[in-house]
Amino acid sequence: MFAVALFCIACAAYWAWCRKNMKTTEPPYFPGAWPILGHAPALIGDSCKLWNGINDLANQSYDIGGVVAASIGPRTVYIVTDPDDSFTISNTCLEKDGFYDFAKPWLGEGLVTGKFSIWKSHRKLLNPAFSQILLDTFMGVFNSQSRKLVRDLEKEAGKGPFDHWTYTRHNALETICLTALGVDFTDSNLNTQYVEATEKIFTTIVERFMKFWWHSPYTFALSDVKRRQDACLKILHNMSNTVLQKRKSEFTGNVCAERSIIPGTRFKAFLDLILELSAEKGAFNDREVREHVDTMIVGGHDTSANVLMFTMILLGSHPEAQEKAFAEIQDVLGDGDRDVEKTDLSKLVYLEAVLKESMRVFTIVPVLARKLDRDVKLKNYTLSAGRTCFLFVFGIHKHPMWGPDVHEFKPERWLEPGRLPDNPNTFAAFSVGRRMCIGKTYALMSMKTTLAHVIRNYRITADHTKVKLKLDVMLKPDAGYFVSIEKRT
Ligand code: HEM
Repeated sequence: MFAVALFCIACAAYWAWCRKNMKTTEPPYFPGAWPILGHAPALIGDSCKLWNGINDLANQSYDIGGVVAASIGPRTVYIVTDPDDSFTISNTCLEKDGFYDFAKPWLGEGLVTGKFSIWKSHRKLLNPAFSQILLDTFMGVFNSQSRKLVRDLEKEAGKGPFDHWTYTRHNALETICLTALGVDFTDSNLNTQYVEATEKIFTTIVERFMKFWWHSPYTFALSDVKRRQDACLKILHNMSNTVLQKRKSEFTGNVCAERSIIPGTRFKAFLDLILELSAEKGAFNDREVREHVDTMIVGGHDTSANVLMFTMILLGSHPEAQEKAFAEIQDVLGDGDRDVEKTDLSKLVYLEAVLKESMRVFTIVPVLARKLDRDVKLKNYTLSAGRTCFLFVFGIHKHPMWGPDVHEFKPERWLEPGRLPDNPNTFAAFSVGRRMCIGKTYALMSMKTTLAHVIRNYRITADHTKVKLKLDVMLKPDAGYFVSIEKRT
């Protein structure tokens, strides 16, 4: 008992000393910190409370210059909502923060979680897999998967509100498996298990984040959350290992032929390119191949599915925007039911504005974190090396720079340059700088194709004001069932 009291007093004294000796160029401390615990109590609870808590932080940060310091237990962290300062940090410090290590048992040194030294060479090797020429060959898969989604949704038409998230994420997982792995998991059991395990593992990562006493791997190893995480890992790695073994056994020589899993489509899967690079140049070992595959599956399906789910809610709540998108689709694709061609995509400008506005209003990757490996000079402050910096992307997207209608869904703002903030750093849905999303073009191509098919077949109704949000690494609704659809005649 005495030892615990002594430990608490020592921590409190150390915390008070740190606060007193803070450099004057440091950003101000966010008010309301508890001794020893700092701002951690604001994070304890569930993932809805976490989302509300960080929204309060973002709102208050604008008045004090968009950069604040806070503490999680004994650890000082920075929170940034200023677009320019966020851009400076993204480009100066390329090392991901230690919080990303919570996902390493799953994604290892894949691009999202990887150490800078490994990321640098691997990103260079993997960039060609996302070249426009290769992405164009996926259009056949994007169209056939969109048609499948339209067919799957048919049973919900005219039946009132339903959980459309289930449909968009199963469909997006199948699409990424086809294009990235070259395997067809359409309607398979593995698909369902994988989707559920992904959802659960994100929850365990957030639970660990909220309870700072589990940040250490030693305490975490004793927790029940770790046991739940291990069960998810078994399913997730089982799927990537099964695919890898199968694909490696098919791989003869050093080159993979283009595949034609879906009739009428020919393309080279992302995994084929990785296997070729491993065979030709010894670029990746088996573990690294699996980590990249796991990263691409999760990075490529949960994100796009989430954006589509929120976009359907927003279009359903804004019928005038939905009819404008429908008119544009009719204009570009005609009255019939033809496929979306790659040349159509650049003509669907309103649809692209809808997607960008949806990603601004509901920023599905709302928070990024970088480790400051040097002191970083910002517009008004200098951040100290060694600390964690949270980039509140959702806060940047709601910055007063967006104008008085910042909280409204207005796709038109993207089509009238005068209505956008005079600062390119105010939109960061795919992150910014060298570690930005490698799949941005893939995502926009697949999401535009899917939306075009869905909107020309269904009229959506929804109510976005009923959506209660939670932060499970990504931004998600706490419960589904917000959308109804009617078949268009
Ligand atoms: C709307 C869809 C998407 C959104 C909003 C999105 C957003 C992001 C963001 C914000 C990051 C930075 C993460 C961080 O710094 O922690 C990121 C990184 C990444 N994304 Fe995406 N993403 C999307 C789709 C995709 C797709 C379709 C793929 C793959 C096919 C993909 C693969 C990746 C990878 C591999 C990285 C790590 C990049 C690196 O560090 O080099 N993403 N994404």
